[in-house]
Amino acid sequence: MYLFGASGHGKVVADIAIENGIEITAFIDHDVNKTECYGFPVIHNIIDKEKPLIITIGDNLARKKIAEKIANKVEKLIHPKSIISHTSKIGKGTVVMGGVTINADGFIGEHCIINTNSSIDHECHIEDFVHISPNVALAGNIYIGEGSHIGIGAAIIQNINIGKWCVIGAGAVILKDVPDYSVVVGNPGRIIKKIK
Ligand SMILES: CC(C)(COP(=O)(O)OP(=O)(O)OC[C@H]1O[C@@H](n2cnc3c(N)ncnc32)[C@H](O)[C@@H]1OP(=O)(O)O)[C@@H](O)C(=O)NCCC(=O)NCCS
Repeated sequence: MYLFGASGHGKVVADIAIENGIEITAFIDHDVNKTECYGFPVIHNIIDKEKPLIITIGDNLARKKIAEKIANKVEKLIHPKSIISHTSKIGKGTVVMGGVTINADGFIGEHCIINTNSSIDHECHIEDFVHISPNVALAGNIYIGEGSHIGIGAAIIQNINIGKWCVIGAGAVILKDVPDYSVVVGNPGRIIKKIK
């Protein structure tokens, strides 16, 4: 498997691949100064278009742009020490890290990052290219639009809709719906700006 993005996040994903017994051929990275990452070679172009790949870039928009360009088959990676309901669905290109719980009837889209120890309760619907940071707590029946980033340790109460391409600040507590492109911080969460 190729890991696209020789970064700290890439190293965490590499560990998950190794835990799953998947052989890592190389990292791919546009930075030609990088030649090695986490003991693996870094190459600068995709050599084998048949080889499965996962995009290991934390930035949601960058991940989307690369996903639109690549032709390789995209895999999902799930840490063996995560708890995922058999009724939940997880899209291709998504990585689920250690300690995550995804409860009943969850839907996680493509190319998402479900980061360490986050908790996603029943019937949450998470669109493509979302990043749920470490220790986020999502209550039941939450919708998160495409490309949104939920910051580390944020908490969102049940039945909330978060729009697309939002940023929820670290530690925020979200008690009401958040419109598209909003940056929200604090407890209770308040919009501090819009992303253009
Ligand atoms: C919300 C966030 C994106 C804002 O970043 P920014 O656009 O650079 O904003 P600034 O740092 O200029 O802060 C703007 C104001 O919001 C406040 N603020 C920023 N983040 C905040 C947070 N998480 N909680 C409370 N207030 C916050 C700042 O103190 C500042 O207040 P002021 O205007 O009174 O001085 C960022 O602070 C954040 O929380 N990012 C999440 C990072 C994360 O979770 N990473 C995990 C990766 S795995």
